[in-house]
Amino acid sequence: MEKTFVMFKPDCLERGLVGRILTRFEEKGLRLLAMKMLRITPAMAKQHYAEHVEKPFYPGLEEFITASPVVAAVFGGPEVIRVVREMLGATSGLKAAAGTIRGDYSASRQMNLVHASDSPESADREITIYFTPAEILSWDPSLACWFQAPGEI
Ligand code: CMP
Repeated sequence: MEKTFVMFKPDCLERGLVGRILTRFEEKGLRLLAMKMLRITPAMAKQHYAEHVEKPFYPGLEEFITASPVVAAVFGGPEVIRVVREMLGATSGLKAAAGTIRGDYSASRQMNLVHASDSPESADREITIYFTPAEILSWDPSLACWFQAPGEI
């Protein structure tokens, strides 16, 4: 089963939107495999956002992402990396389509509520930053048979 890394960012916790957004992922039928609350350190931020460290917006991004706790999670499911990215919408909440999570709840490029991996390579790398293999649970929800037909997973 494909896995993706999802992070509910500080603006999501400060605005009390974790439950509402988590519900959208659960209702879609994505399988929650791991979840923890933590505070990101500047060193972790540089590791997570390695590809952005040299960009002009990085200092502001690091200040934002370390400002309050985050909730890190792993979700599983068929094509889950693409599905979650499409549910989030465009990076900027101002540009994200109505009906997407950012389109509905964000009006910012930086404070866009949720991060999700953009490729299998990113998912593997990001999951390893936040979780040990033992923290990622493999389980079969009883109702899985009512979300997907046999052979779809
Ligand atoms: P995320 O999906 O977590 O990946 C990188 C993050 O950097 C992005 O969401 C935004 O929070 C932030 N970001 C991307 N582009 C910009 C930008 N031009 N200005 C400020 N923040 C940005």
